[in-house]
Amino acid sequence: MKTKRLVLFASGSGSNVENIVQHFNDRPNVTIAGVLTNKRDAKVLDRCNRLNINGLYFNKNAFQKSDCVLNILKSLQPDLIILAGFLWKIPENLIQNYPNKIVNIHPALLPKYGGKGMYGNHVHQAVKDNSELETGITIHYVNKNYDEGAIIHQAKTAIAPSDSVADIANKVHQLEYEFFPKVIEKLLL
Ligand code: GAR
Repeated sequence: MKTKRLVLFASGSGSNVENIVQHFNDRPNVTIAGVLTNKRDAKVLDRCNRLNINGLYFNKNAFQKSDCVLNILKSLQPDLIILAGFLWKIPENLIQNYPNKIVNIHPALLPKYGGKGMYGNHVHQAVKDNSELETGITIHYVNKNYDEGAIIHQAKTAIAPSDSVADIANKVHQLEYEFFPKVIEKLLL
């Protein structure tokens, strides 16, 4: 069987990237072709070094005003592009070239708590401020609007009134670690 190729985008710590890489480590039919980041000092690049996978940095110009990132993607030949904590809006040229091939994870139950500025702890803070009783994750296809593409999978977790923002973030991360690799595998195979 032909090997499937994954490209991951991340902007920060990259704990989801590491979890996904580890999940596919013992599955030789899936290759992590590369990890791309828009932050020169992102911790995800340290993880790439440690995990022996390609880590590449690009700037705003390369991403938004040229076909530079598109050309990198073409050379990496991904079957699926995964946004694992990636915070920039995906430009048209990438969406047009990879229809239904770009998948994002959002740390809340969309359509609630989505859109510009809603990322990481901003999401968890808003969830706490609204005294929500539950939150969760949404894995969805990417279209040209932030957090509005078709939903692939959601999972929920309960919130206690005493939970801090860090507690909520931790609960959401646990769901991400459990479900994201499995959903990616299902989409790929
Ligand atoms: C994850 O919780 C992910 O859902 C979120 O960023 C975090 C990255 O964590 N993504 C967004 O907020 C996108 N709007 P990580 O770097 O440890 O994987």
